[in-house]
Amino acid sequence: MSSRVAIVHGVNLDQLGRRPAEHYGGISFNDLERRIDAFAREIDLEPRFFQTNDESELIGHLHRLGDMVDGIIINPGAWTHYSWAIRDALEIAALPAIEVHLSDVENREEWRRVSVIRDLCVATVAGRGVDGYRDALQLMKRELDG
Ligand code: DQA
Repeated sequence: MSSRVAIVHGVNLDQLGRRPAEHYGGISFNDLERRIDAFAREIDLEPRFFQTNDESELIGHLHRLGDMVDGIIINPGAWTHYSWAIRDALEIAALPAIEVHLSDVENREEWRRVSVIRDLCVATVAGRGVDGYRDALQLMKRELDG
């Protein structure tokens, strides 16, 4: 049976096509999810997509994921940098997690270098654009298959 992987996107990621192309490329959010879906299926992972701009919805979703999936790939958007509540919810989910950022957060504004979820994650992939999700899925596959 294929492993199930939650693909979780946070605040403003639904607005991708309207965000600075030098950081995020020109891709729309729908196309991003389509690409991730194709990457996942190539390596026999079953993706479950979720995006919200509401922090409490993301927390509720993380609370429910424990029984629904085997691993979590998460790009919380700006919440990455300060949401201790999302960090706690990710800890409660108690699943292998990988943090992804489209842009090179280490080489932008100082505040983007902070991630409150990083130490809960088995890996972080940043600055690789859409291909970063392929990297994250491959890392997750290895993590789940052992
Ligand atoms: C982001 C980086 C964050 O700093 C930013 O707030 C985002 C997107 C990324 O994918 O590069 O919304 O997580």
